[in-house]
This record gives sequence, C-alpha cells and structure tokens, in this order.
Amino acid sequence: MILEGLVTTLGAGGAVNVAPMGPIVEETMRTLVLRPFQTSTTYRNLKQRPCGVFHVVDDVLLLARATINRLEPPARTFAAERVAGAVLCDACRWYEFEIDEFDDSEERTRLVARVVHAGRLRDFFGLNRAKHAVVEAAILASRVEILPRETIAAQLELLRPPVEKTAGPREREAFDLLVRYIDEHFAPQR
Ligand SMILES: Cc1cc2nc3c(=O)[nH]c(=O)nc-3n(C[C@H](O)[C@H](O)[C@H](O)COP(=O)(O)O)c2cc1C
Repeated sequence: MILEGLVTTLGAGGAVNVAPMGPIVEETMRTLVLRPFQTSTTYRNLKQRPCGVFHVVDDVLLLARATINRLEPPARTFAAERVAGAVLCDACRWYEFEIDEFDDSEERTRLVARVVHAGRLRDFFGLNRAKHAVVEAAILASRVEILPRETIAAQLELLRPPVEKTAGPREREAFDLLVRYIDEHFAPQR
C-alpha cells in the first residue's frame, strides 16, 4: 500500500530538502520502498547520503508548499536521532531510515529503506475530504510538465466541491496556492 507523506533529506552542505513522496509500506512500517524520479533533489541527496526521514503528516498546507518548492519560511525541524537528517516539527509521526538497496535500472529508482528509528509528535487529525482533495491537487501540480492542461483543469474542478464543503483555512489556502501555481505554469508567456 502507498502512504503519502514528506521525506526530508540533507544536501551536500547540510541544507534540508522537503519533498512529498509516496513510498510503498507495510503496516509494520519496518521498510519503505521509495521511488523517486532521478531528476529529484531527494534522489540526488539519497545517492550522496543514503539516509533520511519519512513523515506522516496531516498538514496539507505544508505538503502543498513543499510540492511547489515554496517553503518560505523554511519548515521547522529538529535533528533526527539515529541518522543524519531532520525531523519536521509539524509532522504526526516520523520514520528515520537507511537505504539498503538502490535499483537505478528504471526512470523511477527503487530504493529499499530500513527504518532504524520511529517517533511520534501528535495524533493524526483524521479523515477529511478537503485534505484528501489537496493531496490530489498537489499531485496534479507536481505533474504540470507531463500532463495536458485540459486533464489537469478537469480534475481540479472535481476536487473543488469537497474543498468548498469541508475545508478549514489551511486546506483552502493550500488548494488556492496549488491552483495559482498551475494557472501560472500554463499562463501564456508575456
Ligand atoms: C502526494 C505526493 C506524492 C508524491 N510521490 C512521489 C514519489 O513517490 N516519487 C517521486 O519522484 N515524486 C513524487 N511526488 C512528486 C515530488 O514530490 C515532486 O516531484 C517534488 O518536486 C520532488 O521534490 P525534490 O526535487 O525536492 O525531491 C509526489 C508528489 C505528491 C504531491
């Protein structure tokens, strides 16, 4: 099963990179199978330093900002316990991991990660349709280079009603941010 969350990795100079990723997990959460594109910063960082932190989150504004690389101010973090890495203060749970296997034979590398330490910060909010709609909108935003504009626009329209009916302010802000980002991407060049 795929669990959508946020992965932090460290760059060569120690800069924290935050990226939404959906590893394949089992209920035990002992291993994570990550599949980052080779063009991603996460992939580059993990190739240099094969460890990081996976986070279970319910803060979809943080997820939306990380998707479009607009984490201003930077996400609040503290040092991981067992790996060279950073834990997001706004996560619900975190899983520190080390990579055991790198399979670079496909465009989406398959990385098998062993969880070496896990921690919990707070309860998960729970199911909410607007939060899930923002996750879907974030996936669309991360695919503006590969999906046609019409496909993205049609799917966004289907995601709008649950946001309008069930969002709190952070979900609304996250959805609007993603819609603006997508609109700007497809706007004719001036
Ligand atoms: C919910 C969600 C899940 C995602 N899962 C993956 C994934 O498993 N692998 C991947 O390469 N990109 C995934 N993406 C897209 C990346 O987050 C996106 O390409 C991002 O820009 C990569 O960030 P980075 O270059 O900082 O590593 C996902 C995006 C979202 C919104």
